[in-house]
Amino acid sequence: MAIHPRSQHLREIGIVRWQRRASSTPSVRADGGSIELKALSDKVRQCQACSLHLRRQNTVFGHGPIEADWLFVGEAPGSNEDKQGLPFVGRAGQLLNSILFSIGLARDEVYITNVLKCRPPANRDPMGDEVIQCEPYLHDQINHIKPEIIVAMGRFAAQALLKSTSSIAELRGQGHEYSELKIPLVVTYHPAYLLRSLLEKQKVWKDLQFAQSLFSGSKKSERSI
Ligand code: URA
Repeated sequence: MAIHPRSQHLREIGIVRWQRRASSTPSVRADGGSIELKALSDKVRQCQACSLHLRRQNTVFGHGPIEADWLFVGEAPGSNEDKQGLPFVGRAGQLLNSILFSIGLARDEVYITNVLKCRPPANRDPMGDEVIQCEPYLHDQINHIKPEIIVAMGRFAAQALLKSTSSIAELRGQGHEYSELKIPLVVTYHPAYLLRSLLEKQKVWKDLQFAQSLFSGSKKSERSI
C-alpha cells in the first residue's frame, strides 16, 4: 500500500500515524453552535480587563465544534493568531496539525483554544494578572464544551487548568482530572517548544498516546456533571 507523504514524514521523525476513528461529531463552529458560547465569545471580544486589549487586532476565542471530544489548550495568541482571530494558525499551528494527524484527529474535529485570548506583546510569557483576568473565560468555555479529554500544551495551560505551580516535568506522564467535572487531562509540551527542541517530539507522541488511552476509557455519561 502506498504511504501518504505526510505519514512518511511522520515516520521519519519517529511518529507512526494512527488510524483516524470514525467521527460522530458534526462539524459545527462553536461560535455558531451554542448561544452560551457565542455570548461568551462576544464578552471576550469586549473585554478590557487587562492592558493586552490596548494592542490587540483581534481577540482569539477558540475554534472547533462545540461537540468536540478533544480540547487542546495552548498559551496565548501570537502575531498570526492576533491578525486572523484564530488559534494556532502560525508555525506552531502547523506542527499542531501534524501532531493531531499523527493520532488520527483532524483539526476540524477538535476544539482549540488558549489560556489568554489576547496576544502578549512581542510574544512574551503571559503575566500573572493577565492569566488571573482571562482564566475564567477558559473555565466557562470548558463548561460549555464539556470535552471527553483535555490536552494542556505547555506550562501555562497546565498550571491554569490544574491550578498548580508544578513544572511540566512534574505534571507530564500522569493522568490528571480537570475540576469537579473530572475530565481526564494530559499535560504535554507546547508545539512552539517542539519547534526549538525536535528531540522532544517522541515525548509528545507518548503523551498523546496516553491521552488516547484515557479517552478510550472515558465516557461522558460516567462523569458526575
Ligand atoms: N501559541 C499558542 O499558545 N497559541 C496560539 O494560538 C499560537 C501559538
